Amino acid sequence: MLASVKNILEEAKNNGYAVGAFNAFNMEEAQAIVRACVKKNTPAIIQVSEKTLNYAGDGLIYDVVKAVVDRESASIPIGFHLDHGHSYDSVIRAVEVGLDSVMIDAAELGFHENIAATKRVVEYAHPKGVSVQAELGIVPYLGEVDQNPNWEEFMTNPLDAKCFVEETGVDSLAVSIGNAHGFFRERNEPDWSRLEEIHKLIPDTYLVIHGGSDWVNHKVAEAVKRGVVCFNVDTDLRIAFNTVLCQFTHDKCTIIDPRTVMSDARSAVQEVVEKKIEMFRHPEK
Ligand code: G3H
Ligand code: ZN
Repeated sequence: MLASVKNILEEAKNNGYAVGAFNAFNMEEAQAIVRACVKKNTPAIIQVSEKTLNYAGDGLIYDVVKAVVDRESASIPIGFHLDHGHSYDSVIRAVEVGLDSVMIDAAELGFHENIAATKRVVEYAHPKGVSVQAELGIVPYLGEVDQNPNWEEFMTNPLDAKCFVEETGVDSLAVSIGNAHGFFRERNEPDWSRLEEIHKLIPDTYLVIHGGSDWVNHKVAEAVKRGVVCFNVDTDLRIAFNTVLCQFTHDKCTIIDPRTVMSDARSAVQEVVEKKIEMFRHPEK
């Protein structure tokens, strides 16, 4: 069933585990995520980016994800969230179409502009029952900055995080502790004491790790101990999906039924999601 993202995060927080927030761009990926959740009897969040809203159409992707959840998951709570909304307009688009959770990513704007942009979104979203995630500090992408950054300049300042949450009223915070998006090289070891400090100062805020694709059990366990309740995963799903597509796209390929390709790609994504949700829920295993 389509469920409130906030409730899913609250449940995770109260029970000391984390959930995955997985990016989907089409029916097959949504099915892969939902099927993994049903098989593992574990809640998760499906998220779409601005690019996906543009690719599929706002209403259509909403309907597709909702239909997949309604038809394939009667009992497992699955949330639906806008990932990396870069503008107020994107947030409005997502809320108008039906999402009950949005991210406003104004981290690149600098501290005060980030506060102003986030506060504006919170003031719009909260009266509608929509929860809001923001990012403080930078979780870098490959190609944007040098692969060997001065992490001190990127990572979330704990006192700023406290001030940011108080000023904006945001529900969740994407933190930078040495994590990075996609193929960007992460810091050798996440800054655990920084995360601990952030959690101590804003204990009621849901902490989110972006760039969760390459996170492994022991790191996930350390993060969950320090208040992280959600890991965003995109790249590993894309790799699983595309690897299957690539196997079929060579000159000698005789497969003419695209459903063969798509169902294999769907299964490959499902397998990845199953492993991730298991790890986020039980990282000590
Ligand atoms: O917002 C999406 C994520 O942060 C995904 O990061 O592509 O490294 O898994 P990833
Ligand atoms: Zn992200």
